[in-house]
This record gives sequence, C-alpha cells and structure tokens, in this order.
Amino acid sequence: MSAAIPLSPLPLSVRSPGKVILFGEHAVVHGRPELLLTVDLYLQAGFSSAPEFELNGEPAAARKHPYLSAARSSLWSDAYGGVSIDVVSRIPRAAGLGSSAAFCTALTAGFSAVRGGVEPSLLADRSFAIERKAQGVGSPGDTSAVVAGGVVSVNGGSGTILWELSDGDQHWKVRRVSDPGWIWLVVYSGVPRQTADAVRAVGRRLAEPDGPRLLEQFESVALEGIDAVGSERREAVGPLMDRNHALLREVGVSHPRLEALLDAVRPVAEGAKLTGAGAGGSIVALIRPGHEVEATRRARRAGGVPYVVRTSSTGVGLVASGPGRVRSAPRDDADDGARG
Ligand code: MEV
Repeated sequence: MSAAIPLSPLPLSVRSPGKVILFGEHAVVHGRPELLLTVDLYLQAGFSSAPEFELNGEPAAARKHPYLSAARSSLWSDAYGGVSIDVVSRIPRAAGLGSSAAFCTALTAGFSAVRGGVEPSLLADRSFAIERKAQGVGSPGDTSAVVAGGVVSVNGGSGTILWELSDGDQHWKVRRVSDPGWIWLVVYSGVPRQTADAVRAVGRRLAEPDGPRLLEQFESVALEGIDAVGSERREAVGPLMDRNHALLREVGVSHPRLEALLDAVRPVAEGAKLTGAGAGGSIVALIRPGHEVEATRRARRAGGVPYVVRTSSTGVGLVASGPGRVRSAPRDDADDGARG
C-alpha cells in the first residue's frame, strides 16, 4: 500500500518495487483503462551528502542520466548541496518491468523526503512529471502503480480512487483493486527496448482509420480484465490476457522472441501476453497452479530469463535511516534506467 514519505535528512535509503501490466498498456497513453500490479523485485537507492551530484560513484552527467537530471531540476536546489546516489536493483533494465518507474519514484521520494516529506498523491504527480520530462511520452500508469503498491487500475473499475492526474486533455483516475494473491510468471526475452519509441509507433498505428475500433477493443478487454482480477475469476483472466496480446500484436509491438516465449509457456498457462511497451522486453503468464516449475523450465529452454513473482503489497518507501549508502552496485545500474 502507499504510505506518505516523511521528512528525513540525508543519509537515507528508498526502496521501490517493479511492476507488471496485466491489461491495457499503450491504450492507457490514449486515456483507456489499464491494470497493473507491483511485484516483489526491488530497486534500492541510497542517498548521502556529497560535494557534487554522483550516481554510483561517478559524476551524474545530464545527457547520460535524463531521469536524474529531470528530478534534480524539478525537486532539488543547489542550496541543498550535492547528493551521492547509489542504486542496486533486481529489476532487469529495459525489460518492461518498471525499472525506470522504480528509479524515478525512488529519486522523487528521496528528494521529497529531504525537502519535508510528501503525500502519496503528490509523489505520484511529481514522479509522473519527471518521467514525462525524461521520456517525452507516456501515461502515469507505471509511476502511480509503483507509488501505490499492490494492484491498481487506471481509468476503469469501481475501487477507491487513490488520485487523479492530467496532462493536457488526457486524464487518468488511479484506483485500488483488491489483490487476488496469485503467482505470476514473468519472462524477460533478453531483447532490450525503448518505451518512447514503442509508444510513438503505436500512436502512429492508432492514427490509422481502424485506430478507434482497436482502442475500443483494448478498452473492453481491460475493463473485463479489471473486473475478473478484482473478483478473483482466474478462468476469465487467462483468455482475456490472450485477447489483449492479440491486440498488442495487431498494433505492432510483439516480437519474434516474445512469440517464442509465449509458445513455450502456453501449454501450462491459463493465459499469457507481452507486458509493458513490447517490441522486446518481457511476457507475463498466469500459470496453471502446480505447473510453475515446469513453466520456468520451458521459458529457460526457449531462451528467456524467468522470474516467478508475487504482488508487492507495498509501494515506494523509505527503508532505513542508517548509513543510507548502498554500495557495490552492478555497473549496469549506473545508467539511469531510462528504458525500463
Ligand atoms: C510502459 O510500461 C507502458 C506503456 O503503456 C507506456 C506508458 O503507459 O507510459 C507502453
């Protein structure tokens, strides 16, 4: 669940979960419904005082670190001095599993804590603004889910409204959905991808004459999916995931590696689809109970990197007031996750 970020001096440490999109990616950018859940793969960022801005021990160049640069210009003042940020993460980068939303919300939470603390709705708003600034396109779905934790819907369902966000003439209502507590199999294809490129390509596809019809179909599948997950109707969820994937394939964001992974897990899955921006990245599957080990074996044999995940019931939050520094980050995490 989402919790307020309290005032905290440096050093401090923040933890953010990754996310999986069960229904509605891409269509959400056009104001349609989406269903997401945060998963138990985490990114942790330690913040400590330093003479300059540093990321994993190196000067944080604006060109190489668009998320940090956007967060710094929106939320930080040079009067506070520099900050050294050390990141470790189990969320694979550029894999459609929310590494950039986790990094972005961690930065927003860390800077906001030093500035006096922040309520979840404002944290979601700030995180979306920073992701938009760095990425140029997109919806608040990923960042809102990572702030809220658990299962959330955007522009659909009847759960409690957590917050509402806007950008120009687009509006998004973020709601709580009850967590069915299921296990999910996520498989990374090993093919990295750029969210912004995929979002722009789908935007062009949806501008074609059949775009409105496709958006209606995305909407109806996502609304049924939100209802089916919230009411724990597994038998309905799997086929809806398959239908959502067929639509994503139609708008051009599947990939031969994703299709191979889907073919590999389908014999033991109730349903499966790509998750996130697609064009590479990952799939998510609802596995028939008791077949999880076989599913991971099949996914690995097909060349994927499988993760058996559960819902993370908590969103971004401070984890310790101790020394705050997280050391020995893998080099890969020094880049700021702009493709996750
Ligand atoms: C990316 O994780 C999800 C997309 O719908 C983009 C977005 O919502 O910002 C493809």
